[in-house]
Amino acid sequence: MPILQWMTRDRDLKAADTVPYRLLERDAALSVGEAASGNMLIQGDNLEALKSLLPYYRGQVKCIYIDPPYNTRSAFEHYDDSLEHSEWLAMMYPRLELLRELLAEGGSIWVSIDDNEGHYLKVLMDEVFGRANFIDTIIWEKADSPRNSARQFSSDHDFILAYSRQSAWQPFRLPRTEAANSIYSNPDDDPRGPWLPGDPFANKPYSKGLYTIVGPTGRSFKPPEGRYWRISEERLRELDSDGRVWWGPNGSARPSLKRYLAEVSDLVPRTLWKRDEVGSNRTSKNEMRSLFPDEASFDTPKPEAVIQRVLQVASRPGDLVLDSFLGSGTTAAVAHKMGRRWIGIEMGDHAVTHCAPRLRKVIEGEQGGISKTLGWQGGGGFDFYRLGDPVFDTDGTIAADIGFATLAAHIWFSETEVPSPAGGAEFGASPFLGAYDGAGLALLYNGILGDKRVSGGNVLTRTTLAMVRAAAGDFAGPITIYGEANRLGADTLKAERITFKQTPYDVRAR
Ligand SMILES: C[S@@+](CC[C@H](N)C(=O)[O-])C[C@H]1O[C@@H](n2cnc3c(N)ncnc32)[C@H](O)[C@@H]1O
Repeated sequence: MPILQWMTRDRDLKAADTVPYRLLERDAALSVGEAASGNMLIQGDNLEALKSLLPYYRGQVKCIYIDPPYNTRSAFEHYDDSLEHSEWLAMMYPRLELLRELLAEGGSIWVSIDDNEGHYLKVLMDEVFGRANFIDTIIWEKADSPRNSARQFSSDHDFILAYSRQSAWQPFRLPRTEAANSIYSNPDDDPRGPWLPGDPFANKPYSKGLYTIVGPTGRSFKPPEGRYWRISEERLRELDSDGRVWWGPNGSARPSLKRYLAEVSDLVPRTLWKRDEVGSNRTSKNEMRSLFPDEASFDTPKPEAVIQRVLQVASRPGDLVLDSFLGSGTTAAVAHKMGRRWIGIEMGDHAVTHCAPRLRKVIEGEQGGISKTLGWQGGGGFDFYRLGDPVFDTDGTIAADIGFATLAAHIWFSETEVPSPAGGAEFGASPFLGAYDGAGLALLYNGILGDKRVSGGNVLTRTTLAMVRAAAGDFAGPITIYGEANRLGADTLKAERITFKQTPYDVRAR
């Protein structure tokens, strides 16, 4: 397969492998609602953040929407959008690789872009996601008036490139809109309700499709040259006697087959997304202004309705949605209002100044964007994280100087799939880390029991088990214990309901 070549390609292809896994550290002050809501706002470089999510969310994300810097050579208020061309490719390639690993089998990825890098991005995505998984290019009408200062053309649109994880992917249909319904009418007061006149002819040869039929006024009709009736004469007569054929207001027009509004399904998505349906750049600027009247407005937000359309086509309530170039937080806000679980990653300070406050407002019932059309009333929560220490060396072994609390937080995340409430700050005094969903978790590491000798406190024995049980207090359920070695027999482990896992081998790095 032809591929795109650039100077540092060989090194860039390894970037996703060599970046370290870091811990996610929760910031309680910026989080909203109960800890471990499942929605995550992460501040940090998305290469590292995506890598850190990989052990827990590999293959679980249903829909990824990203709106990376377009490389427009602009310095926006909140981020710089002028990388050298091959630096942009180097930035995108490893991130796309990680995003692909996070996608669920039935998942899809949607990437906003324009002409600066769009065609290079298509070639990169063909390579990473496979040409057979290309879904389509959406044209979003972003401008609502021409820019007369344009050097050549005033650009009216952005692209959204869509790829699926597997080629069998199917979009969900869109709910019917009033505009789509308004073309149906009921000139003959048909009790089945409004209908559209459907073409009775087809181009495909049909053995029973060549006949002449006489209408109510005695006029006869036959298919035009080279075409056929799409149903037999017998079937047409049946439909006519049931009132499902339209012969025009005077009964003298060629017959049409009525297509009833009540019988048509939801709408198949189309590739042209017009501003009167999903809003334009002006819409998103207004959304920003009403969200942040006093802040420096974020320069390049997307309208909520654009992201809503992506999520309507590519996800269902409860699905996990990811945006790793979160900007002002639009994808997270829309996913939240639509009942999806979400992860948003943004490296700029606006993760704190824009994303977190915007999402807090959403949870409080903010009424801008798509809120009114959804009847959004507020609710839910999210956790704010920053990237902490690397947990593993690049070869996947536990970093030599890693402390108890850091490893405990990592193990907690890996066993429960939710970060620990205090991001590790709560660990360090006890080998018992806590209970989650009825199961306990303990770690014997770094001499937590005061004995750093080989075969000492890091080994599971009757004595250390008794100490873990004592530390667990009232908790009497099954416990998974991580330690350097185990000296208990299978029968004892079974009777005590202990699952033993060995550090470092059973600590998941990937
Ligand atoms: C075009 S904006 C996204 C706008 C967003 N769709 C919205 O509606 O607000 C691109 C964002 O990606 C962020 N970004 C760029 N490189 C990044 C990286 N390596 N990791 C995380 N965020 C990054 C920028 O700071 C910027 O906020």
